[in-house]
Parts: sequence; structure tokens; C-alpha cells
Amino acid sequence: MRRFITADEVRKAARAPQEKSSRAFIRVEKDDVVTAEARDLARSLGVVISSETSRRPLVCANFKMNGSPGFLDKYTSELAGYLAQFYPDYAAGTDVVIAPPAPLIPIAYGLCERKTIYSIAGQNAYVKESGAYTGETSPHLLKECGADFVIVGHSERRKLFGETDALVAQKLKISIDAGLAPIMCFGENLGERKTGGTFEVIAQMLTALYSIPIEYAKKVILAYEPVWAIGTGVNASNEQIAEVCDFIRKNIMQNLGVDFSNAVRILYGGSVNEINALEIAVIKGIDGALVGGASLKAVNFAKIAAAFKPRNGSN
Ligand code: PGA
Repeated sequence: MRRFITADEVRKAARAPQEKSSRAFIRVEKDDVVTAEARDLARSLGVVISSETSRRPLVCANFKMNGSPGFLDKYTSELAGYLAQFYPDYAAGTDVVIAPPAPLIPIAYGLCERKTIYSIAGQNAYVKESGAYTGETSPHLLKECGADFVIVGHSERRKLFGETDALVAQKLKISIDAGLAPIMCFGENLGERKTGGTFEVIAQMLTALYSIPIEYAKKVILAYEPVWAIGTGVNASNEQIAEVCDFIRKNIMQNLGVDFSNAVRILYGGSVNEINALEIAVIKGIDGALVGGASLKAVNFAKIAAAFKPRNGSN
């Protein structure tokens, strides 16, 4: 999948109409090679060739409402064993995160020997630090119990619990204040895809990211999860994922600039498993996976983590 950036591409970029960004640019991804001629031409035409990115891959196991203390005990020891087998130096290359139900977080923290084998994510957090909010979980408490990440705006929360982009924005902000890195989920449903509304919906959902201060936005990890692919066994095709990922980075570039767009991590989620992970991992611009069903078997999640090894030292 190596792409050569040639002088022709530079000319094309120079001619392409620019929207809010004032300079033409070419984004370099993963294994791309920029020819010397292309570099020279870019300099003379004022086309920005973004430097290669070194986004650290991240895989997150979203247990959803599954698991128990006994399950977690077995799972975490199996995970350590399978990671040692399939990806012994994973800690140097990839963030491996598990998101168990909230009551299991302190147990997961205790089991992970001070987080040497995985990091922990909450699946949700409320927009307040404490108070009379029966049944809700404070992001600050999640942090205190051992989480470093939190999933925000998952489609199940949006659909079943009416979470809006405005609420998602509030959750992003307070989670970051609490010291958590939010994994912000978004994606179109089947009707929206069928009627050609995918990009519009995604642009709308990304407004949550644009509505928080940029220093906060820098802490956010994005997870593109087409709703029709979640829990259905039907994952989006590589072309569909690549197309949407490209749209996301362009939209971010227009709103937050090229450096931001290059640096932000974008995960894919929706029926990722130990078999399709290898193909998804090489899609340009995709930096990891949010995995539901398949992550409940430690062996499969370890294989998925191994699929998201950084390639040639950068991803
Ligand atoms: P799935 O779930 O892997 O079971 O499709 C993904 C998710 O909901 O994050």
C-alpha cells in the first residue's frame, strides 16, 4: 500500500481549490514516500507537505455491559499471556486499553499491577464532578479508580440515552479536566448512509470537538463507528472506512488546522475482529480500533492489538 508522492501530485494539490486553509497541502501517511522532485516542486509552489506522523496506535476493548470480577480476573491474566505470545513488545508500540463496566474499574486497576499491561477506560461519565445525580459516574472518580481514558458519545448512549452533540462536548471537557483522555465516538446510521447523508452527519458530530478549547481538543481521540456496523458482524469496507477517515481529517484540517489534523488519532469501530483487524490496520489515517464483541475473548483482543503494531516505526 506504499504511495509515492510525485511532482504530479504536488501540481494537482497546488491547483485544487482551497477552502478555509490558505495553503495547498499534501498529507503524508504511514509508508508514503515523497520523491525529491516532489519536495523541490512543493517548495517552489508553496505546497505544504505535512511531515510524517507518528501517531501511537490504540486498541480499546469495550466490554459494554458484560463481565464480572471472576471474568475480569481470568481475562486479564489471559490477556497478559496472549500479548506476550503475539506482541511481546506491545507496551513500546501500542496503547492497549480495556473498558470494563464501571464497578470493575478498581478491580481492573488492582489486577493490572499498576498498569503495566493495559490502561483502563470508563465507558461513560457524567458532566459533573459530584452532587445529586443518582446513578451517574463522575469522571474524577473514574480517574481516581484507575482509568486514564473514557469513551464519550458511543452510539448506544446517543440512541438509548438521548445523548446529543452538546452533551458530548460537555463530557469531553469535564473528562479532560478530570485527567482522562476521551475517546469520542461518532458515525452515521444505516438510513443516513443509504440517503447519502454520511458526511453531513459526521461533520455535525465533529462540532462537539470544535466547540471545546483547542488545548482540550488536543487530548481527544476520535472513534469513527458506523452505527450499522456495530454489533452486526458487518464491518464497513476498507474503501468506506478510508473515505470517511479522509473526510474526517479534511474537515478537521479546515476547522483546526493541518497540524491538528495530522496529529489526532482516529480509531475505527464496528465488528472489528481478529481476522479483519489486519486489513483495517493498514488503512491510511486509521490509528487503532474500538472493539466490542470480539474483545471479550482475550486471545482475540491480543491478536487485534498485534495487528495494530506501528509499522516502520511510525503509523
Ligand atoms: P462491536 O462494537 O465490535 O461489537 O461491533 C464496537 C463498539 O460498539 O464500540
